[in-house]
Amino acid sequence: TFALSSLDELAEQVAVCKKCSLCQTRTQTVFSDGDSKARLMFVGEAPGQDEDLQGKPFVGRAGQLLTKIIEAMHLKRSDVYIANVLKCRPPNNRSPHLEEIQHCSPYLFQQIQMVQPEMICALGTFAAQTILKTDRRIGELRGKFYDYQGVAVLATYHPSYLLRNPEAKRDVWQDMQKIMKKLGI
Ligand code: URA
Ligand code: SF4
Repeated sequence: TFALSSLDELAEQVAVCKKCSLCQTRTQTVFSDGDSKARLMFVGEAPGQDEDLQGKPFVGRAGQLLTKIIEAMHLKRSDVYIANVLKCRPPNNRSPHLEEIQHCSPYLFQQIQMVQPEMICALGTFAAQTILKTDRRIGELRGKFYDYQGVAVLATYHPSYLLRNPEAKRDVWQDMQKIMKKLGI
């Protein structure tokens, strides 16, 4: 008999988590997708409806755009690790509440510690502010490298924002090129 990896154990813990009220409305928790040994990790906000139903992050419309961005970077989804700040869907896709982030973000920080990526791309305000422990705005944070416990963190606009503001795709592509350069791809 083999021990489960600590990430699998963490996912099992998350699957039965009742630390915040989102446990009452979720279909299931959404833990991660991709390669747990990846050099690059993407962090989003929270599951939406498609993610809540399928149990995988970034599988809806925003997810299809994220997949296109990853592929434009000459990578595949299976080359990167993908997770969210919240593991349960907020009703009607409302923004996460501070209390939910406080209860759930320790799981994200454990994921980061176990995956040990070289680089994190924080997608949108909530991922960026949570990882960087700041309340500065995404427009101000994006496009620069910060440090989270020795891991380089670059924030950019969330793919859902890009669906509403396609003109921001230019900025995101510039940000992705910085990641590619730093990763040597
Ligand atoms: N938006 C997110 O932030 N995460 C997902 O998993 C899907 C949409
Ligand atoms: Fe637990 Fe996070 Fe789900 Fe809240 S959102 S119930 S803290 S897994």
